[in-house]
Amino acid sequence: KAGSQVPEQDHLTVTVQRGGPDAPMRPQTFEVPAYESQTVLDVVSWIQQNSDPTLTYRFACRVGMCGSCAMMVNGVPRWTCRTHVSKVLKGNALEVGPLRNLPVIKDLAADMDPFFDKWVSAEGKHHPTRTRDDAIESIDPVAQERQEANAGIECINCSVCYSACDTVAGNPDYLGPAALQRAWTLYNDAKDADRDAILDAVSGKGGCHSCHSMGSCTTYCPNELDPLSAIAGLKRATAKRFFGGRKG
Ligand code: FES
Repeated sequence: KAGSQVPEQDHLTVTVQRGGPDAPMRPQTFEVPAYESQTVLDVVSWIQQNSDPTLTYRFACRVGMCGSCAMMVNGVPRWTCRTHVSKVLKGNALEVGPLRNLPVIKDLAADMDPFFDKWVSAEGKHHPTRTRDDAIESIDPVAQERQEANAGIECINCSVCYSACDTVAGNPDYLGPAALQRAWTLYNDAKDADRDAILDAVSGKGGCHSCHSMGSCTTYCPNELDPLSAIAGLKRATAKRFFGGRKG
C-alpha cells in the first residue's frame, strides 16, 4: 500500500533531468534524506530548498487537485504530490524528469501550451444554450448522456495521459486523450448548443480516429478516468453522423 514501506536506507539517490531550450538535458544526481510517507514532490522540493535553489519545477495545491505537479518518475508520468516514493522506488533510486511529449521550459517544468492549444482545437469549450438572464435549465441527473458527461468531468488537466500516449509521441498533430475526453463531455452535455462543431473538430486530421486504442491514457490517469472510452464514444458519434444517424 502507498506510504506503508520505509526505504531501508536513510537516503535516496535521486537523478533529476536538468536543462531546457538553451542547455541540453543532462542528469544530475542528489542524495536526499528518506522518510515515511514521503512523496516525489517532497523529494523535488527538498532538493530545491536544500541542495540547488535553481532547480525549476511546478506545483500548487499539493493535494491532487490543480494538476500542475506532473512529471516523469522512473519513466512513467505521475502526479508527484500524490505519488509516494515507496510506491515507485527502484532499489534505492528515483529518476525524475519533465513530462514527455511536451517542450521543456526548464528542468522539470514542461511547457503546457501545446496541451491546452489542443483543447481549443478539439472545440473543448462550452457553447451556451441560454444567457445569464434566462432561468436555469434543469437536467436529469440519471440520464445516460449526463452519466457520460459526468464520467470525464473530474479531469484536472495534469497532462499525464498526454505524456503517456504513444500516439501523441508518434503524431504531434494528434489532439490527445484529455482534449478528446473534454470534447466527449461537452458533446453529452444537454446545455451545450453546438454538438456539430464538436464533431467537426474531432473528426479531422489528428482527431479521435487517430487514436490506436492502446489505452495508456486510462491506465495512467491519476484520477482513474477513462479517456479511452470517451474517445471510443467520439468515434461512434462521428461515424453515426457520417452515415446519417445524427444524434438528438
Ligand atoms: Fe496540485 Fe499536485 S500540486 S495536483
